Amino acid sequence: MSTASHPIKKVTTHTLRQMKASGEKISMLTAYDYTMARLLDEAGVDVLLVGDSAANVMAGYDTTLPITLDQMIYHAASVVRGVKRSLVIVDLPFGSYQEDPRQALHSAVKIMKETGAHGVKLEGGEAVVDAVRRIITAGIPVMGHLGLTPQSIYQFGTYSVRAVEEKEATQLLHDAQLLEQAGCFALVLEKIPAQLAKQVTEKLSIPVIGIGAGKYVDGQVLVVHDMLGMNQSFKPRFLRQYAQLQQIIQDAVKHYIADVKEQKFPDETEQY
Ligand code: KIV
Repeated sequence: MSTASHPIKKVTTHTLRQMKASGEKISMLTAYDYTMARLLDEAGVDVLLVGDSAANVMAGYDTTLPITLDQMIYHAASVVRGVKRSLVIVDLPFGSYQEDPRQALHSAVKIMKETGAHGVKLEGGEAVVDAVRRIITAGIPVMGHLGLTPQSIYQFGTYSVRAVEEKEATQLLHDAQLLEQAGCFALVLEKIPAQLAKQVTEKLSIPVIGIGAGKYVDGQVLVVHDMLGMNQSFKPRFLRQYAQLQQIIQDAVKHYIADVKEQKFPDETEQY
């Protein structure tokens, strides 16, 4: 809580580095709108990711590929307006950074200018290192993302666990080191074996945040709609549901419908 004598201490990229050093785990969740961002920020989450998973959970697409830079900016600006403490990171969407470092810088600058967010995230290793360097030279913090990178789903063919084979695991370790050397302030590892995530976490001095990457990382991230149980048909092994909101919301709506039909809502105290 913020008071005159205790102003809110904002989470920064520096805070995350200190958390890794002290062994305090980092909590990160996705957010795509003002109200959810306000709730998560007030609850004390360290990092809010305006993920391109908005394409799935907000827009109903099967993949993250269709979401545009302007749509990400709309979501990110809404999230920033709900936040007082959390660090807000925004995904660079598919097609907004892969052409060359110039395009990547242009997209990152547009996000920073038009949303008020604190940094960007992009997917990939060696292929995006020059883009990462270019964005960082403009003073924009960059978070990397390796393992199951959903923007490459048509190359992978499935959403199953990545880097199980030694060759891919070795490449991932190499990519992680390149991203750290390029200046990334943190790294997301998605859906890889826990022991590989442990190795990466021990090798890097920047914080490593996992989703489906086991417990030996510096922090965890989940898609907020998934961890609140808003879609009962999505239950991968790595997901823990901390609430059953699908049930709660549908029960409340059924109750409302019945009250309207039976003319129990509104009553005399709920009218002017
Ligand atoms: O878009 C997203 O939600 C993400 C997380 C799954 C890390 O990238």
